[in-house]
Amino acid sequence: MNVGYEPSGIKKLDEALGGGFPRGGISLIVGPTGIGKTILALQWLAEGARRGENVVYISTTVPVERIKRYYGDMPFLKDAISKIRWYDMVIEPKEVIPFTVEKQKKLFHRVMPDIISEDLNPKIELHRGVIDSITSLDRVIGDKALFRYVA
Ligand SMILES: Nc1ncnc2c1ncn2[C@@H]1O[C@H](COP(=O)(O)OP(=O)(O)OP(=O)(O)O)[C@@H](O)[C@H]1O
Ligand SMILES: [Mg+2]
Repeated sequence: MNVGYEPSGIKKLDEALGGGFPRGGISLIVGPTGIGKTILALQWLAEGARRGENVVYISTTVPVERIKRYYGDMPFLKDAISKIRWYDMVIEPKEVIPFTVEKQKKLFHRVMPDIISEDLNPKIELHRGVIDSITSLDRVIGDKALFRYVA
């Protein structure tokens, strides 16, 4: 089945990926700090925004205001920064432990109430989304010591 691709706008990368990142799929970007994961993710979002798509960036670590200040002057982001929807996701252990579908729904609804309804149905069509990063979510879920704060 050909699911189609969402290009990053980086010509060589898109060629290497066969057109971009798989449409309707989830791609996990992995690498050491400073390798360029956030820049790559933002570049992919900016390309979507320039194409008129609805795109969201969710930060679980650095406040998005700092992300915008830090990367905002980069040429690829300048014309797209106002077209990206930016969200901070502060993760409370009790919101994600145990990691049930119900809890995930509530978390995403809390973070993006304007576009995700309580039953996790998007109020608008979302084309691209980035969670930067899944590592902090994974840490909270995997940290048994945090169970004591769940109740
Ligand atoms: N505003 C900037 N000006 C110049 N260089 C920058 C700027 N922002 C980031 N960089 C550099 O670009 C490179 C890639 O940064 P990026 O933030 O994308 O890495 P990362 O893989 O997301 O790292 P981390 O895992 O720490 O989040 C780094 O070497 C960083 O120092
Ligand atoms: Mg990063």
